[in-house]
Order: sequence, then structure tokens, then C-alpha cells
Amino acid sequence: MPDSPHHTDREAPRQELRSRLEKARIGGGTDRIERQHASGKLTARERVELLLDPGSFVELDALVTHRCHDFGMEEKTVPGDGVVSGSGTVDDRTVYVFAQDFTVFGGSLSETNALKICKIMDLALENGAPVIGLNDSGGARIQEGVASLGGYADIFLRNTLASGVIPQISAIMGPCAGGAVYSPAITDFTFMVDRTSYMFVTGPDVIKTVTHEEVTKEELGGAKTHGSKSGVSHFTLANDAACLLAIRELLSYLPSNNLEDPPSTRNEDPTDREDESLDGLVPVDPNKPYDIKELITRVVDDQRFFEVHADYGKNIVVGFARFGNQSVGIVANQPAYLAGVLDIDASLKGARFVRFCDAFNLPLVTFEDVPGFLPGTQQEFGGIIKHGAKLLYAFAEATVPKITVITRKAYGGAYCVMASKHLRTDVNLAYPTAEIAVMGPEGAVNILYRRELAAAEDPEAARAQKVDEYRGRFSNPFIAAERGFLDAVIEPRSTRSHIIRGLRQLRGKRQTIPNKKHGNIPL
Ligand code: HXC
Repeated sequence: MPDSPHHTDREAPRQELRSRLEKARIGGGTDRIERQHASGKLTARERVELLLDPGSFVELDALVTHRCHDFGMEEKTVPGDGVVSGSGTVDDRTVYVFAQDFTVFGGSLSETNALKICKIMDLALENGAPVIGLNDSGGARIQEGVASLGGYADIFLRNTLASGVIPQISAIMGPCAGGAVYSPAITDFTFMVDRTSYMFVTGPDVIKTVTHEEVTKEELGGAKTHGSKSGVSHFTLANDAACLLAIRELLSYLPSNNLEDPPSTRNEDPTDREDESLDGLVPVDPNKPYDIKELITRVVDDQRFFEVHADYGKNIVVGFARFGNQSVGIVANQPAYLAGVLDIDASLKGARFVRFCDAFNLPLVTFEDVPGFLPGTQQEFGGIIKHGAKLLYAFAEATVPKITVITRKAYGGAYCVMASKHLRTDVNLAYPTAEIAVMGPEGAVNILYRRELAAAEDPEAARAQKVDEYRGRFSNPFIAAERGFLDAVIEPRSTRSHIIRGLRQLRGKRQTIPNKKHGNIPL
């Protein structure tokens, strides 16, 4: 067909569109893409593709450019301006995503770049869909000054307003420094990629100048540091692809917003499955450790437990699983680490997880074997009083269905804290091996019979007799069961069916807390 003048008119803008989209697609250009790959990282677009269901990405603002006219920036514009943003699906459910493109001005945040991120955050909130941020950025775009800083603050505001309404997930897949760290910090879960990502408020050079400490980027803010020492990140993954797959898996347990229930799945694990081996899992010797994760994996659907914060505060275990296809949050003391004692890290870890579950309609299943709070000046000076109170507050405030299983020790204040009946837990169960008391027998006998034992002919024999007496009287589940603080004492083998029946009974649970602007959790 011969070209008509009209046809030519239409072709030029289409060419222009194609050319601009192509420039947006290659971002900072093939050299920088190669550098990105050589450093073990995928590009922003590759990451988005891997995160989302194939072909589901709908990009927004691919043609946006920055408005900076300083430092010769007017000569350097790249459509998209260093962030790829839009929506797509994960397992057919809508999510919003932004991915910083390190190949364009180091992924630095410009005013327009922040506007793009805010746009998808607003859409995510309006549409009740999770928002996922893939971070890989040199921070505030230096050439733009306060316009960039304002952009960060606009994002922080949205992170805060969206908190508890839609799940917010951050992945750190490159640098994330300075105030930029505060967006991930507000979001619900942070993933870090081992060896290619780091986060810090002030970097090694500034630290050296101010405190004379020498520390590498990796030691200061690498994935292992934040996954185990600071607890800033919840998941450490070996590479970008593993990280993106893990985000997909996490999403499978979560509702899209606070008004929805978590998605239910189909699996064939029988709801009445008994496991005789559980009868022998808790050792007879109360001081012998065992791995609570063994219990968890044996009772949940298909042995699948998605652990959160696996390397931080290991004396408490938290994570997601399903019972009878229903998604739940699990909180469990870990007798295999520090005897499952509660300390500052465990309290913070547990409290934040409980609050997440409560905000997003995920029932809480608690497994309890706790000898109490960790003694010591480090803990007291560090504020275990206020931090332990957070865990107590979180359990007390939670109105989602709550089920607690005491497997062995439930001593002292920790008995109250760990979702006891008194904190409006709906179903409280215990194994026959449970010991519910103000403290362990040895400590109790030392206090109650100090004088008597000192005067005894054979103090050791007298002590042993008193310990036996105390254990027989108080270190069992039956006094609590007599009072109704426990609803039932169960055989360990039937744990799974008891939990599933409990969850079914509680499907219609509606419980409220007094009307208020917000509580004042002891932060
Ligand atoms: C503009 C930036 C940039 C930035 C990097 N680039 N950071 N451009 N603003 N903040 C550009 C570089 O000029 C370079 O451009 C390209 O990105 C890649 O950077 P390189 O330095 O070549 O890469 P690399 O060696 O891998 O080092 C990455 C880096 C380093 C460690 C992130 O670039 C760096 O230290 N950047 C500055 C970090 C920083 O101090 N940011 C401000 C933090 S304070 P070319 O064209 O050469 O490829 C902050 C406050 C936020 O962010 C406040 C919120 C409240």
C-alpha cells in the first residue's frame, strides 16, 4: 500500500514512542547492564520479571524523566529515570512493585523517581494490594538536593500510612544507605541478598572519622549482619533469583490487605493425622533440649514451615505455616537455643511478628516451653522490662484467633506473656509433660526452704525431697487445668487435629478492643 501523508504522520510518533520505550528498557545502557551482571546482580527489569507471574507486568511511567537543570543534568535524561514501577500478579493476585535501576544514576532517588514510587504506593493502598520495593540505590540524587530528600519523606509517610493496611515488603539487592534505609525499616518484611547488598545509616568512612572504628561494608551492614545481629532484615538469600522466589512464597501466606482473609490453598495432608513420634519428642529430663522446629514441621500441613528471622533471636521461632489449608502465624520458644529463654531480641522479634499477624487476620498458634526471662545486667540495662512488655502487649492486644500449646515449661512472667488464657487466648492446651509454675522446682525450693535446708542433717537429700514434692504439686498442667486456665491436656500425638479443630471453631471470631486513636505500646 502506498504511503499516504496521513500514514507518515502517524508513523513518526510511533517511531518516537518505540525509541523512547527502548531507551527506557535499556536504562543506563549495555555497558552498565554488563557491570550489573558482573557484580552478581540482575537488572531492575529482570528482577521484576522473575518476581511476577510471566507476562503480567504492567509498567507505569516508563517515559518519566527528571526535571533537574543543575550540574549538566539537562543533557542526561533516561526515560523511566532510574526506577521501574507498575503492577502485576503473584499467583494471580495483584501486587504493586518498584525496582530501583542501579544502571541509571546509580538508582539514586530523584524527585520524579520518588513521585513514581509514591504513585504505585497510592494505587496499592487504594486497591488493597501488597507493595514490594526492590532496592538498589546510591541514595538521594545528589544533583537534586532537597527535592530528593523531600521525595524520601513522601515515601516514608506512605509507608507509615499503609502499615497494617497492605503488606509491604522490601528487598535490598544492592546499596541502601543513609536515610534511605528508613523505608525498608517501616515495611513489614525485609529481604537481603548475601554479599551484594548492604544497609547502614552511616558508612564505614564516616564511622572511622567519628568513632575511629574500622569496619568493612559487609561487616557493618551486610545481609548476615542484619539477619543475625541487628534483626533489621528478616531473610538472607544467596542470590537475586532466590530472593524473588522467597518473596513469592511469603506472599502465598498473606492476605492482600487487612480486610481480606489469607488465601486458602489445597493440600491433601489429613486434618486428623496423628504422629506417635511426638509422644517422645519432649525429653523426660526437664533440662534436656529438643528442637521445637521438629514439632512444628511435624504438625503443620505438608511439613512446610516458612520461617521468619531464622538467624536472629533464635531462642524464639516465628514463621508462617498452614493447618488444614488455613494460613497461620506460629510463635514458639526454642528449647534448643538458650533453653528457650525470653530476652530482648526474642521479645522484639516475637512482638513485631504477633502484631503483623494480628493486623492481617492471621491466627496465632503458640508453642510454649519457656523457663522465664534471661537474667543479667546486660538485659536489665538494655531494657528487658520495656522490651518484654512489647511481647506481652502484642499478645494481649491481638484479637485474631489464638491457640497456645504448652509443651513443657511455662514459668513465671513468661507464662503470662506467651499467649496465656488471661490474655484472651481462645484455646489453651498443654501436654501432660507441661510444668506451669511461678518458677522451676530448684529455684522455688531454695527460696521456700532456705533456712530448713541449711539446718538439715543431709541438706542435699532434703533438697531432693523438697524438689520432688514441689514438682509433684506444682510442676504439672493439672492445677491450671482444674482452674480452666487450660482448656484441655492433650496427648502430643494429637496436636495437629486439636489445633485444626480449634481454628475451625474460631473461624467466626469477632473481638474488639476499646475504641482509641492508638495504644501506647512501650516502644
Ligand atoms: C547521583 C549517583 C549517586 C547519587 C551513585 N551515583 N550514587 N548519582 N546521586 N546518590 C552514580 C555515580 O555517579 C555513577 O554514575 C553511578 O551512579 C554508579 O556509581 P559508582 O560510584 O560508579 O558505583 P559503585 O562503585 O558501585 O558505588 C556505588 C555507591 C557509590 C557505593 C552507591 O556510588 C556511592 O557512594 N554513592 C553515593 C552514596 C551516597 O552518599 N548517597 C547519599 C546518601 S544520603 P556514572 O555516570 O559514573 O555511571 C541519602 C540521604 C537520604 O541518601 C535521605 C533520606 C531522608
